[in-house]
Amino acid sequence: MNVTYRRAVPADIPAIEQLFAEMLASVGDKGCGGYENGYLDKFFGGGDVIYVAVSDGDVVGYVSVELYPDFVYLDDLSVTERFRGKGIGTKLIKFAERYAADSNVPMTSLHVERSNTAARYLYQRLGYAVSGEEDERFRMTKHIRKG
Ligand SMILES: CC(C)(COP(=O)(O)OP(=O)(O)OC[C@H]1O[C@@H](n2cnc3c(N)ncnc32)[C@H](O)[C@@H]1OP(=O)(O)O)[C@@H](O)C(=O)NCCC(=O)NCCS
Repeated sequence: MNVTYRRAVPADIPAIEQLFAEMLASVGDKGCGGYENGYLDKFFGGGDVIYVAVSDGDVVGYVSVELYPDFVYLDDLSVTERFRGKGIGTKLIKFAERYAADSNVPMTSLHVERSNTAARYLYQRLGYAVSGEEDERFRMTKHIRKG
């Protein structure tokens, strides 16, 4: 399995939307059908970025990353089912953390559904700790060494 990683380009949007729908189905979210029209545009203009994992020319995973002055926020993370459990999610998170370090931002942060214990354990293993509780979700945070 040869997987490569790169910054997303606008042509990746349909594949990213598909992976987002897959993520919602995986976590049992029925309230939201998908991204609102134009939501992803902000990731192609400057500070906010998306990293994708590509296999055989297909986008098989992505993480969307928002840059704030004091932290980098991992907005969405999804790996298509057939490619899960192979280290792709870990690698995508590392790209987001490298981006934070290179941007001189000291912290990365994300939300995870309370019910998504598998993802929470993955984040914990990667050094994330619960830093807040918000309704159905935990906020998790990791301190990053500057680049
Ligand atoms: C969570 C997710 C992005 C992790 O990506 P991944 O490529 O499977 O992650 P990795 O291979 O780097 O790590 C796998 C670990 O993730 C955890 N995991 C979470 N959900 C998993 C799944 N559906 N299948 C396999 N592993 C999963 C396991 O604990 C596994 O640990 P292990 O390596 O000790 O077995 C991916 O499983 C996924 O897209 N899940 C559905 C959507 C989702 O939950 N997104 C996160 C929302 S906060």
